[in-house]
Amino acid sequence: MEQKITSLSKEKRVFHPKEPFSRRAHIKSMAQYKKMYNESIKNPEKFWAKAAEELYWFRRWKEVLKWKPPHAQWFVKGKLNMSYNCLDRHLGSWRRNKAAIIWEGENGDTATWTYQQLHSQVCKFANVLKMLGIQKGDRVCIYMPMIPEIAVAMLACARIGAVHSIIFGGFSSSALVDRINDAQAKLVVTADGAYRRGTIVKLKENVDNAMADCPTVENVVVVKRLEQEVIMHYGRDHWYDELMHSVDDVCPAEQLDSEHPLYILYTSGTTGKPKGILHTTGGYTVMTYLTTKYVFDIKEEDIYWCTADAGWVTGHSYVVYGPLLNGATTVMYEGAPNYPDPDRFWKIIDKYKINVFYTAPTAIRAFIKWGEEWPRKHKLDTLRLLGTVGEPINPEAWMWYYKVIGKGKCPIVDTWWQTETGAIMITPIPGATPTKPGTVTLPFFGIVPEVMTKEGKKCKVNEGGYLVITKPWPAMLRTIYKDDHRYQRQYWSEYPGIYFTGDGARKDKDGYFWIMGRVDDVINVSGHRIGTAEVESALVAHAKVAESAVVGRPDDLKGSAICAFVTLEGKYAPSEELKAELKEWVVKQIGALARPDEIRLTEALPKTRSGKIMRRLLREIATQGIVTGDTTTLEDFSVLETLRDEEE
Ligand code: PRX
Repeated sequence: MEQKITSLSKEKRVFHPKEPFSRRAHIKSMAQYKKMYNESIKNPEKFWAKAAEELYWFRRWKEVLKWKPPHAQWFVKGKLNMSYNCLDRHLGSWRRNKAAIIWEGENGDTATWTYQQLHSQVCKFANVLKMLGIQKGDRVCIYMPMIPEIAVAMLACARIGAVHSIIFGGFSSSALVDRINDAQAKLVVTADGAYRRGTIVKLKENVDNAMADCPTVENVVVVKRLEQEVIMHYGRDHWYDELMHSVDDVCPAEQLDSEHPLYILYTSGTTGKPKGILHTTGGYTVMTYLTTKYVFDIKEEDIYWCTADAGWVTGHSYVVYGPLLNGATTVMYEGAPNYPDPDRFWKIIDKYKINVFYTAPTAIRAFIKWGEEWPRKHKLDTLRLLGTVGEPINPEAWMWYYKVIGKGKCPIVDTWWQTETGAIMITPIPGATPTKPGTVTLPFFGIVPEVMTKEGKKCKVNEGGYLVITKPWPAMLRTIYKDDHRYQRQYWSEYPGIYFTGDGARKDKDGYFWIMGRVDDVINVSGHRIGTAEVESALVAHAKVAESAVVGRPDDLKGSAICAFVTLEGKYAPSEELKAELKEWVVKQIGALARPDEIRLTEALPKTRSGKIMRRLLREIATQGIVTGDTTTLEDFSVLETLRDEEE
């Protein structure tokens, strides 16, 4: 029998947007949000058509939405080009001289590219791709550091209708092989290397190692980022700079069908095989444009920084496409947040006078661990809006972000979405929505989420259940590349015609959504299913705790027992007393049903390269004492050794 997901959060604090912020915001009040939201769900096609009209179409669509569940087409028969909308559309105005990208390398190199300059580079690289035989519909794999050329490569693909598949620079060569082969990519764009935490990541070497097993790849283009000796394979490998010299900067944007594929992005599912999430052009363009405008309240003069790597969906939608569609200035940083010191981000914010800053809870928790003295050294007074994404933010981290970084004056937009959704789905609108620490608040325009029981009934107020999206939205994934069956099974079989997110959530009396983590991270203890994120949040609220991850382990008596892995703030030493104290702390914060059965104090938690804690590995360690599954996405393998040592 399916039990309920028990929600245990008791957060009561509410933060209203400050009047000076709201006055200047695109959306200035809750009344305005509600009116627009109601209209947007009463007539979504009218709402999205109006948004689409703000962009440039070579040919107007005939129908806004064709919905044959679970397959959607948006802006049917319309023709447009993402690259044209990001670049050419701005060149007729003063924006041609505006900074499109401000870039800083980890080693201190810097560059600023105007819209005109970016346009020229993109046109040239589009010509390079054509010269190397890339045609509309061909797949191009991008495996690069965070340098402006990654945006050039993306936009050049989009310009000629090639489909990019970015593979995060932290992936190994075997991960590259799987993804390149699944996409049957014809060309790889890479670099001789990248800087990361002061060391060199040998991207080209990884590509070389992969190539023997990638028969579809005909050419490899290599950007020179370092003075790194690399082996160039005659006939296959080409230096980016040399190719760019041999082409001109005129390349008309292809007039692409609205449903033409824009990119594939691989993401992990519940099975070992990564899923190729497929996004198409029209709907994705319209929705990343509009969400960036309203959620980040983008102003012409803003300098906007999203710290995500372009290898993740956040980098696609909110480092590159969304900001450029809005004619904004987007900042890109190549390296680690703590190199050379833990205040690198704060230095960058002051140096470039960043106004809007978007990062991940895991980063915020690291900053807390490193200590307040680091941000305190910097003014941070240009910031006006903060954002977070990627996992539930525990209220204490939210408060730290609000007070220490935002100085109590910046709204925080906690944005919920997924690789699959393509764009932000549930989020505060910063000038309008009162926020509460830990909730992603209300749906974006046109989005109709719901929390449902296993049986498909709407959950009651504060009752935990499954987060679903009941109506199609423009940036939704169209399928899993070459595996439509998996697409249907994974997302649409739980509730026919309704998108299953895989997340647990509850809705409070104000209709605010509280994400409780992945459903597979929800554990069942004595008949109660408890959101692991909530137990973690309680633990992290303890002054001595830096970070925690909670997993279930089978227990004869209770079904599952709660096992909490905890890292301590630097100055505290592990002890049995402290473990007992933390257990009691959780009881105090939540209740006896959430008392951890076991606390393991550990020096570090295993994380993916994007900073997500790999709970699956912890579950294996908690259950079997060893890790047997796939560890290819783990950032630091020594963490596993440490965790095993803890056990002995
Ligand atoms: O569990 C949710 C969590 O991240 C998942 C999506 O991961 P990914 O596809 O890698 O995309 C991350 C960036 C969009 C979701 O199913 N998640 C994302 N944002 C939030 C979140 N959980 C809580 N709060 C969020 N703001």
